[in-house]
Amino acid sequence: MTDIRSTVSPMKRRTLIQGAGAVGGTVVAGGLLAACGSDDEPSSSDTSAPPASETTAPEGDPTTEGGAAPTGTELGPTSDVPVGSGHYFESEKVIVTQPTEGTFEGFSSVCTHQGCAVSMIEDDVMICPCHGSEFSAKDGSVVQGPAEQSLKAREVRVDGDTIFLV
Ligand code: FES
Repeated sequence: MTDIRSTVSPMKRRTLIQGAGAVGGTVVAGGLLAACGSDDEPSSSDTSAPPASETTAPEGDPTTEGGAAPTGTELGPTSDVPVGSGHYFESEKVIVTQPTEGTFEGFSSVCTHQGCAVSMIEDDVMICPCHGSEFSAKDGSVVQGPAEQSLKAREVRVDGDTIFLV
């Protein structure tokens, strides 16, 4: 008794498998053509071919096609950002403010004076602890030096109740 697996090289087995796949594809296509071309002649291939395509194609599509997946880096909930003030998200070096209810602005926390972290927020002013520069929470403009330039704007987006850094 000779086992056929031992007489067929791995390369030939792969070729056989690929050939079987090609035949399978042809069968499905033929089944679909038969389904389109004939209403009065249901065959056994009509009932077996559609479920195979239905179970393989849609599974991966919702996650890639939906477009609903949020983009950007999640910062946190909108509730972290008080109206008329802001919140420092240290991990992303960004400050998000909410000058008016429902309007969110993002700013780099890198101070334009000498690069310290603008990490303090008091009401509508963002403060650098190194030398005391102050910036407006509305637009990042300088309220008090020594900094002379506004904080760099960072784009943020709100999706539901979550803030994302774009
Ligand atoms: Fe911010 Fe000097 S580095 S005030």
